Amino acid sequence: MTPDLLEQGARRVQQRLAALEASKSNTESGGRNPSGGRIATPGEVDTTHGRILYLEDVSVSFDGFKAINKLSLDIAPGELRCIIGPNGAGKTTMMDIITGKTRPDEGTVFFGSTIDLLRHTEPQIAQLGIGRKFQKPTVFEQLTVFENLELALKTNKGHERDVWSSLFFRLDSMQSDRLAEILVTIHLADSVNRMAGNLSHGQKQWLEIGMLLMQDPKLLLLDEPVAGMTDEETARTAELFLTLKGKHSLMVVEHDMSFIKTISEVVTVLCDGSVLAQGTLDQVQADERVIEVYLGR
Ligand SMILES: Nc1ncnc2c1ncn2[C@@H]1O[C@H](COP(=O)(O)OP(=O)(O)OP(=O)(O)O)[C@@H](O)[C@H]1O
Ligand SMILES: [Mg+2]
Repeated sequence: MTPDLLEQGARRVQQRLAALEASKSNTESGGRNPSGGRIATPGEVDTTHGRILYLEDVSVSFDGFKAINKLSLDIAPGELRCIIGPNGAGKTTMMDIITGKTRPDEGTVFFGSTIDLLRHTEPQIAQLGIGRKFQKPTVFEQLTVFENLELALKTNKGHERDVWSSLFFRLDSMQSDRLAEILVTIHLADSVNRMAGNLSHGQKQWLEIGMLLMQDPKLLLLDEPVAGMTDEETARTAELFLTLKGKHSLMVVEHDMSFIKTISEVVTVLCDGSVLAQGTLDQVQADERVIEVYLGR
C-alpha cells in the first residue's frame, strides 16, 4: 500500500467519523452505538435451537491428566457469558478446543445446530466466524491504529496474508464505514494515526478487539481481557463488551470479579475441567462448593 492510498483511506475514515459525530444529535437514536445493525453476516449459523455454541461431554487428557472432564455447556445467540474458575480449571483449554487448537479425546462441539467444529481446522473455524483474543495483545506495533484495523480486513480470516491482494487492497466505502464505526466502539477514534506501539496496554487490547471485529465474528472468545488494565481502562472495557453483546455472542474468561459483576448475566464456574456451578454472580458466589474451590485450596 502506498502512502498516498493510506492517506486517502485514512481521510475517508476521518470523514466518516465526522459524519457519525454530526448524526448523533439529529437522529432518534441519539448516542446509540453506531455499529448497531450495520455488520454484514456472510455465511449463516443455524441458531434456531437457541444456541450458538454447544459443548457436550467433552474431555481431553494431557499425559493422563484430565484437563477437561465431561464438560457440557451452551451459549445463546447474542449472549455475553462469563466464565470463572480457579487457576488450572480448564478455561483456556476449553477455548483451545472451541477454536480447534486442541482436539478433545471425546465429546461434541457444535457451532449453531449444524456445524460440527471437530470436523474443522483452526483456520476454518476462524473463517466460520469464531474470533479469539489471547491475553497478550498482538497488534503490529510499527503500524498505526488505522493500518492495524485495515490489515485485519485484508488478512483472510485465519489464513496467511496473500501479499498480492493486500498490496492492491483498498477499502471500499462500506469497509471504511465499518472501520470508522469500530474506531468509535473501541474508543480509539482520536488515535487513528497513532502508532500502535505508543498506545497504552488497555488501548492495545481494544485495538486487538477492533481487529477481531473487522472480521465480523459471530462468536468472540476473550481470555482474561482486562488483566493488566488500569481501573479506568477496565471500566471502559466493560462498557465496550456491553455494546458488543446482542450483536455478537461473547465468552469472557476473567479473574477480575468486579469486572464480571459489571458485565455478567449468567456466570459459569469451571473447576477440574467441568461445570461446577452456573447462575448470576451472586448465586454462584453464595454456592458452598464455589467458595470451597476458591478458598479451600
Ligand atoms: N498442552 C498442555 N499440555 C499439558 N498440560 C496442559 C496443556 N494445556 C493445559 N494443560 C493443563 O491443563 C490444566 C488446565 O489448564 P488451563 O490453562 O486450561 O487452565 P485455566 O483455567 O485457563 O487456568 P488460568 O486461570 O490459570 O489461566 C492445567 O493443569 C494445565 O497445566
Ligand atoms: Mg487460562
